[in-house]
Amino acid sequence: MSEQPLVLIVMAMEAEAAPLRASLGAAPAVPPDWASSLPVRLAVADHAGVDIVLVTNGTDPRTGVDCIGSTAAALATQVALDHTRTGLGRRPDLVLTVGTAGGWNRAGASIGDVYLAWDRFVCHDRRIDLPGFNAFGRADLPAADLRAHADALGCRLGVVTTGDSLDESPEDAARILASGAEVKEMEAAAVAWIGSLHDVPVGAVKAITDLVDSPVATAEQFSANLATAADALQRTTLALLARLGEEIGADV
Ligand code: ADE
Repeated sequence: MSEQPLVLIVMAMEAEAAPLRASLGAAPAVPPDWASSLPVRLAVADHAGVDIVLVTNGTDPRTGVDCIGSTAAALATQVALDHTRTGLGRRPDLVLTVGTAGGWNRAGASIGDVYLAWDRFVCHDRRIDLPGFNAFGRADLPAADLRAHADALGCRLGVVTTGDSLDESPEDAARILASGAEVKEMEAAAVAWIGSLHDVPVGAVKAITDLVDSPVATAEQFSANLATAADALQRTTLALLARLGEEIGADV
């Protein structure tokens, strides 16, 4: 009997993940022993012919807030990949980094738009002016080709740029403009880096909560639009999984 496709979904904030976890009817799973002191939260589900592992970065025990950002995203991805290897005996067919993001009026984005990453993940705040290290800092990692799904899902396509700050410094702004990125968030390039080390393709689903070039403060826009964006993430991700079930399932 052929196996169902396996998709690993990596999310940062509980408010982003809760609607999707509930719709998937995902059941809690136990992280590997070596990760037992990490706050990472694992769950598994079977939806539309796809086996799913959903991992969230978890809550920081010291500050009590979600562990957003690239360090926690890399750890969560590694924990979940280890779970698929040891628990399920296989690597995922695809890793998806799913979450909220900032967009730009200048790129035609609106609040609530959902983007699929194409064609790469970059970093905008890792400036390392040493031979070779600049390229490492920029990341420039390939995104899985999900273009065939964008129209059917009503999604836009764009380069995703990752940094560890919600705001945009003048240096960040210049680097983002030069990279051509249209989606600004805090995890994707870290997930893509771990994926690249394990030779697993990484795609992204990112819902826009704020417009970076709006006169309204990013934090204010983010808080006002988080619940709507989480709902859009849930609907789009479920629809994408159903399409991937048919697409990857046919190849397995
Ligand atoms: N997540 C949502 N909006 C963001 C922004 N403007 N920058 C970084 N991460 C975000």
